Amino acid sequence: MGQAEWARDLARHLLEEPLPRRWAHTQGVAAQAESLGSILGAETDLLTAAAWLHDIGYAPALIDTGFHPLDGARYLRDVQQADDRLARLVAHHTCAECEAAERGLFDTLSAEFAKERPELVEALTYCDMTTSPDGLPVDVETRLAEIHSRYGPEHLVSRSITKATPCIIAAVHAVQAALGHSGQ
Ligand SMILES: [Fe+2]
Repeated sequence: MGQAEWARDLARHLLEEPLPRRWAHTQGVAAQAESLGSILGAETDLLTAAAWLHDIGYAPALIDTGFHPLDGARYLRDVQQADDRLARLVAHHTCAECEAAERGLFDTLSAEFAKERPELVEALTYCDMTTSPDGLPVDVETRLAEIHSRYGPEHLVSRSITKATPCIIAAVHAVQAALGHSGQ
C-alpha cells in the first residue's frame, strides 16, 4: 500500500464527520495531486499523501496552536511517526510562512520543520490553490478572492493571504509551466 492510501484513510477519519466541507476540499486537492504524475513521477504518491493530509490540522481533535499547518505537521511527526517529508510538506503548504509570521510562529515553524524541495512545495500549493472549498477545480484568482470574502478584510488569514499572494501565484505558474512542458 502506498502512502497515499494510508493518508486518505487517516484524513477521512479526522475530517469527514466533523468538517464535511473541508473533507470535500481535501478530496479535490488529492485528485489534483494525482493528476501531476507527468511532472512528479515516483514522487506523485508522496505529494498525493501530503494533499490528503494538508488540512488535518483543522480537525477539532488536533487543534493546539490554532495554526493548522503546524498542528497537522506536529500530529504527523509526534503521533503518527509519519515520513519526515510528509510532515514538512504539510508544515509549509501554501506559503504557510506568511501566516506563521502573522501568528508569531515563524521561528517555531522553521526550527521544527525544514522545507522540502521547492518543486514539491510548489506542487502542493498548486493543488490547494486550484481547488475550491467544495473540492472543484478553480483558477487561483477565484480561489484567492473566495478566501478574502470568506474571512473579511480584517482577519489574520486575509492579511496572511495578501502577503502570500506572490508566493502562491508563482507556485501555480511554475507548475502550470512544468505541465505545459510535459505536454499535459
Ligand atoms: Fe491549509
